[in-house]
Amino acid sequence: MRVIRARDYKDMSRKTANLISAQIILKPNAVLGLATGSTPIGIYRQLVDWYQKGDIDFSDSVSVNLDEYCGLSANHPESYHYFMQKYFFSHINIQPQHTFLPNGMEKNTQKECTRYSMLIRSLGGIDLLLLGLGHNGHIGFNEPSDHFSADVHVVTLTESTIQANKRFFGSADDVPRQAYTMGIRTILQAKRIVMAVSGKEKAFIVREAFLGKITPAIPASILQLHPDVWLVGDAEALSEIPEGTL
Ligand code: F6R
Repeated sequence: MRVIRARDYKDMSRKTANLISAQIILKPNAVLGLATGSTPIGIYRQLVDWYQKGDIDFSDSVSVNLDEYCGLSANHPESYHYFMQKYFFSHINIQPQHTFLPNGMEKNTQKECTRYSMLIRSLGGIDLLLLGLGHNGHIGFNEPSDHFSADVHVVTLTESTIQANKRFFGSADDVPRQAYTMGIRTILQAKRIVMAVSGKEKAFIVREAFLGKITPAIPASILQLHPDVWLVGDAEALSEIPEGTL
């Protein structure tokens, strides 16, 4: 585990973008695992900026997203397909056929889970997986539970996640109740994991996840077992991680 301390959201975004950029420079055809949510927006903006300046080239890169809501089509403004286009893919030269997300419109959820798991395997696994951290310790849509779910699966969202995500929808009633997500094994199989955190409301859960005990009640705590995790956070989010403890 490596901790990278940033001053604020902008600095955290730049430092995380630097890690992603380094990955692409070292391996232009890298497979990037990508997240949505509010935290990575600044990271994608920074990468787009560097792309526009000619400093980074995504033409050989591949992306696989962590998750997608069940029942939302790619052109629904709150789907993760739409998010990725809006903030990232439409601004860079990644080839559309190299970008992958679960298909929220597939009615046969088991078939879709198998397809997405096999797809990730066929790409040779994920070189760098970008993660955010939910307030309840979720990663992807792996919600607190009494067990860890291994492969790509469908989850029923917890009330706290529905409440956290309703800001993006008209109301809590409009938030889909289920989502596809990479499972914990899919996540742990990524060669490198970069978790980005920002803001003081994340400080408590960052401490629980990285200094607390490893438990499916805080899914992110399993990352303590991964050999190559980089936690990039601003001063507020890392305020409960004393210097030198990780
Ligand atoms: C998004 C995802 C989620 C978010 C998490 C944090 O693809 O998988 O686990 O990373 O909910 O969201 P923000 O960044 O909005 O606090």
